[in-house]
Amino acid sequence: MQRDFKIAPSILSADFARLGEEVESVIQCGADFVHFDVMDNHYVPNLTFGPVICESLRNYGIEAPIDVHLMVEPVDRLISDFAKAGATYISFHPEATEDISTTLNLIKEEGCKCGLAINPDTPLSFIEDHLESIDIITMMSVFPGFAGQSFIPEVLDKLTLTRQMIDDSNRDIYLEIDGGVKADNIGDIAKYGADVFVSGSGIFGTEDYQKTIDTMRDNLSAA
Ligand code: DX5
Ligand code: ZN
Repeated sequence: MQRDFKIAPSILSADFARLGEEVESVIQCGADFVHFDVMDNHYVPNLTFGPVICESLRNYGIEAPIDVHLMVEPVDRLISDFAKAGATYISFHPEATEDISTTLNLIKEEGCKCGLAINPDTPLSFIEDHLESIDIITMMSVFPGFAGQSFIPEVLDKLTLTRQMIDDSNRDIYLEIDGGVKADNIGDIAKYGADVFVSGSGIFGTEDYQKTIDTMRDNLSAA
């Protein structure tokens, strides 16, 4: 059976001066989710954007799911603001919060779907204990902080193990891969069990978004 693959352009590589148009354009070209990378110059050594930008995208008319990836520490006090700003998914790094269950519950109480983001050197035990509560797992295939890094192939084994854990749990959990995903490696990555593909520079760094997303879809169909 053909899996339901989702393409999630990361706006970190968009032209921020024209953010609404950029997001509208990738959605019109067939992207599914808007991946929204929040960095705080503390959990990661880079600084990006917060809830007001998410709200601006909603006010601009973006209706696609917004997949907020929090690379911040602490996590909890931002959740309500992102929920009010229109976030659909909110994921965070388990090392960045005091109590993982408390943070997951906060996200759910605010009416959003929740997820955990796993760094290349973070053990899978962090997700094993929370499989009953989460909606999405973000498997990092680069160390978080910057767009345009190369995909770390060692993560593929973790992807397979995580796919197995999800299938065994019988729960509907997205397995997202984030970092270094491009049109030319997306098909291979899909074979290891991912079903949501974040791509920043791999989409916004190309000339023709339609052509890039079409090629990604073709390569996913062949996977
Ligand atoms: C990295 C971010 C990624 C990043 C992906 O810290 O979490 O979402 O924007 O960018 P590319 O696709 O260029 O590696
Ligand atoms: Zn991300």
